[in-house]
Amino acid sequence: MHKHIFQAIGNTPLIEITVPRGKLYAKLEYLNPGGSVKDRSALFMIEQAEKDSTLKPGGTIIDASSGNQGIATAMIGAAKGYKVIICVSDKISKEKLNTLKAFGAQVEVCPNTDCLEDPNSYHSRAMTLHKQTPNSFMPNQYFNIANAQAHYTLLGPEIWRQTDGHITHYFAASGTGGTVSGAGRFLKEQNKNIKVLAMDSINSYRATGGRPKPYNVDGMGMDFISPVFDETVVDEVILVKDELALPLLKTLAHQHGMLVGPSSAAVAWAAINYAHQHFDNQSVGVMIFGDSGRAYLTKHCYTENENPRLINCTPTKTNQSKKYAS
Ligand SMILES: Cc1ncc(COP(=O)(O)O)c(C=O)c1O
Repeated sequence: MHKHIFQAIGNTPLIEITVPRGKLYAKLEYLNPGGSVKDRSALFMIEQAEKDSTLKPGGTIIDASSGNQGIATAMIGAAKGYKVIICVSDKISKEKLNTLKAFGAQVEVCPNTDCLEDPNSYHSRAMTLHKQTPNSFMPNQYFNIANAQAHYTLLGPEIWRQTDGHITHYFAASGTGGTVSGAGRFLKEQNKNIKVLAMDSINSYRATGGRPKPYNVDGMGMDFISPVFDETVVDEVILVKDELALPLLKTLAHQHGMLVGPSSAAVAWAAINYAHQHFDNQSVGVMIFGDSGRAYLTKHCYTENENPRLINCTPTKTNQSKKYAS
């Protein structure tokens, strides 16, 4: 029993997906009350701001989000009695936009830009609004180290506990990098041999060395060199192509009953291929499935794509994957 909805964040289940050797589990973050892994970081950043009085009663929370961080903030803000303003890019799905509004948030839609530092980006707009709004707090997930600390404090220990310390590989998509590097750091502190693997879009700002191309996986994609992404704990960044990942949405839903969002398909594609190539019988992998497919139904990824390529797929050779030079 909980007094508040945000106290139900976390303790999401691990569900096995069969691989030839070892074990691979999907951690279903869409079962959080706000529907994504971002519930954890939003709660942590808001409660830290309450503790240090950056956020005071009657205050306004303003942030830039590709959707899920904003939805988490709107849900928690509603339950805690704060006004919430979220700036999003016009790449956002209709479902996410309507969910933000349904939680009572004020939403500003900004043009999709190649880079967060662009003065027209949703991030720049949120910064401006924050400066103009008295008694406002901006969690600022791209710069706030508490974003990664959330996953160091909540997600990492949860995975360690749920696998009885047997985890050997941790797979998560990277946007800000908080999910992969926060939980990754905790896991490496428990056992330095655990491999931490980040998924990025092959077209992201970071992957293309500052010459990004369009891609369609919400949440994943390093559009900015964020200080939240701690490269020292990430063993490998696996670059994912839309056309390989997106067909898996249908496979995961139709064959596994997991209605997940595009970043989960990207993680699944990378993790299953990795498991085929590198797992032995002792391997225990955990994949973060960050959000639900219900937020993307109008993108029609679950009924189209007649040629799913996951699960029983042939291992893909490493030319799809690349470790960043530090
Ligand atoms: C839906 C979704 N959004 C965002 C992310 C990336 O999170 P972060 O910003 O912490 O890198 C993930 C990672 O698992 C995700 O699944």
